[in-house]
Order: sequence, then structure tokens, then C-alpha cells
Amino acid sequence: MLKIDQLHVSYGSIQAVRNVSLHVDEGEVVTLIGSNGAGKTTTLQAICGLIPSKGSISYQGEKISGLAAHRIVEKGIAMVPEGRRVFPKLSVMQNLMMGSYTRKASKQELKHDLDMIFTLFPRLAERKEQFAGTMSGGEQQMLAIGRALMAKPKLLILDEPSMGLAPIVVKGIFETIHQIKANGLTILLIEQNAMMALSVADRGYGLEHGEIVFHDTVENLRKQDIVKKAYLGK
Ligand SMILES: Nc1ncnc2c1ncn2[C@@H]1O[C@H](COP(=O)(O)OP(=O)(O)OP(=O)(O)O)[C@@H](O)[C@H]1O
Ligand SMILES: [Mg+2]
Repeated sequence: MLKIDQLHVSYGSIQAVRNVSLHVDEGEVVTLIGSNGAGKTTTLQAICGLIPSKGSISYQGEKISGLAAHRIVEKGIAMVPEGRRVFPKLSVMQNLMMGSYTRKASKQELKHDLDMIFTLFPRLAERKEQFAGTMSGGEQQMLAIGRALMAKPKLLILDEPSMGLAPIVVKGIFETIHQIKANGLTILLIEQNAMMALSVADRGYGLEHGEIVFHDTVENLRKQDIVKKAYLGK
């Protein structure tokens, strides 16, 4: 579904991403694990057309590198940015509707999708009129995921959904990711929290200093010493 071949991204003289190749098949949850500054967000921004890159990125067999960001959203890729980035002065409902701005959907379709999101996140249903900026970190993460789902994506990319949240809240967010997976959505999950990421993913890639250092099925990754020591604290 998504195929990245030899991706390179530089910021001036700094090479943030080097020779990254990875793929995500339809129906899979693939995780990209790496510590601070590994190049995870840079990779995401390249996929979404937010920064220039070298190499090839294709989606459903079609080259998307070089396309404008909104064209990529229209093709069915939505992302939940690092740090959530909800619109603080807009209500929950308004934030969710912002997610659907690239769609030409009928009122009925939008209502159906909103209902699906409120089922997934009852907390949002209780708070439709609340300003997003006054919500807790976990609630804002739910809202950011809901907003991305309002674009009705085929591929959802999440950038560190666990960031800055208490373990119990992280657990709740990952339960929802499980549900979204069960609903059939394809997911690329960027995380530092390898333990949680491997709990939901089918396959994983490790990124260090801008390069892929391992990739395998989750089952095999759990057995690898490098993963156990560096990422799972064993
Ligand atoms: N706009 C920028 N200008 C210059 N350098 C940048 C820019 N954005 C990122 N970098 C650098 O690129 C490298 C990769 O950063 P990136 O944000 O992709 O890492 P990350 O894996 O997402 O890290 P984190 O887990 O902290 O979010 C870092 O060395 C960072 O300093
Ligand atoms: Mg990042």
C-alpha cells in the first residue's frame, strides 16, 4: 500500500534521514521505532508531502513524492501529528469537522463518521462544545486521532501518540488503536515506546541516526537481543 524506497532528507548540511526503505501492506499495522532525533517525524513529513525529500514514495502503486500535502490527504493518507496540534480555540466538534475539509461528503456521511468516532471515544461525545485547548493531554490525543479519522483515510499515520501521557492513559489510547486496526484500517505507528508499539503492530522497523537498523515481524523482533536491550529494557 505504502512503499518508500531509499528516502533521503536533509536540513541544510544535516542528513536527518538516510537511505530509508520500508513498506506497509494493506491491513497491516507497522511500527517505526526510534529514540529522540532518530528521524521519525522527518520520515512522516516526507510521506505527507510537508518537506522535500529524495528517493521514491509510492502509495497504492502510484508515486506520491512531490505531490502537495492536501493532494496526499485526498488520496487517503491522514496523520496524527506529534504533540497532537489540536486547534485550541476551536471546540471538539469544530476540530473534528476540520479533519473532513478535503472530503466532498454528504451531511449523512459526516454524521455517520462522527457517530463512529464518538463510539470509539465516548469522552469526546461528552465534550462536543468544549474548547480543545482546555482538554487534558489524553483527551487532546483522542481528538487528534478523531480529527484524522474524519478524513476517512485508508492509511493512518500516528506520530508518537504516547508522548507525554501517563501510562494508564497510554494504555487507553493503544486500546483504541487496537480497535481501529480491528476495523480494518492500515496503520503506520511511529513510537519511542517500543513496548506499547510492539503490542499492537504486526511488523516493526528500527530507526537510529536516520537509518533503518532492523526490521522484522513483531514475533521475531521480541527475540532479538538488540531490541530487547535497547528498546524493551531487558
Ligand atoms: N526543521 C529542521 N531544521 C533542522 N534540523 C531539523 C529540523 N527538523 C528536524 N531536524 C533534525 O533532524 C533530526 C531528526 O529529527 P526528527 O524530528 O525527525 O526526529 P524524531 O525521531 O521525530 O525525534 P523525536 O522522538 O524527538 O520526535 C534531528 O537531528 C533534528 O534535530
Ligand atoms: Mg518526532
